Amino acid sequence: MDSLEGILDEIARAGDEHLDPGYVAEYDRKAAFAADAVEEVQLLCGLGLEQGSTLVDLGAGTGTLSLAAAARCRRVVAVDVSPAMLRATEEKAAALGVSNVECVHAGFLTYEHRGSPADFVYSRNALHHLPDFWKALALRRIGLILRPGGILRLRDIVFAFDWLLEPMLERAGFQISEAGYGSRRIYAEYLCMKTDESAGPIAVD
Ligand SMILES: C[S@@+](CC[C@H](N)C(=O)[O-])C[C@H]1O[C@@H](n2cnc3c(N)ncnc32)[C@H](O)[C@@H]1O
Repeated sequence: MDSLEGILDEIARAGDEHLDPGYVAEYDRKAAFAADAVEEVQLLCGLGLEQGSTLVDLGAGTGTLSLAAAARCRRVVAVDVSPAMLRATEEKAAALGVSNVECVHAGFLTYEHRGSPADFVYSRNALHHLPDFWKALALRRIGLILRPGGILRLRDIVFAFDWLLEPMLERAGFQISEAGYGSRRIYAEYLCMKTDESAGPIAVD
């Protein structure tokens, strides 16, 4: 996979609060994502997540989804640009005795997947940190992480950006199998399947 490191400073765009250990310490209480994450894992299990699966959580934050998924699959990779978020994930994993969650300090544009291709990629409330052009590249890179038939679960703030995000997903080689929008269309949830193996390497000159 081509390295895009240095082209866009993902840490600078990550939101200062996500880098702040004080904010991170309060994140789980404020985000209140734990129960929702369990439902999300159930959804993924219904789509084939099982003991042999690999799941990559991009913009994993404090690892709520990663840790909820860990017991249901073989390997979870929690990826985030924030060292404080990753530390929180590691501490929670250690406290829970979870050993199959790997924390990787990287972003959408720099994460280099190793090992067998992922069966699932999950990303919640993180992609919006990238400007639009870079979102398209990030989606292409996600396509390269996933095996054919692999599933992307994407949830994010879209601000009526779905008209642009959806063609981006399709151009990145995904088929959108389900799309849900909040009543004000500022938030969207997608289930996508990687279908197009021809979405080749990304060239950034
Ligand atoms: C609102 S939090 C969401 C965390 C988690 N996904 C959740 O739903 O609780 C956004 C996360 O995205 C991370 N982030 C921001 N920009 C990123 C990027 N370019 N690549 C990877 N992670 C990023 C932040 O550090 C932060 O942990």
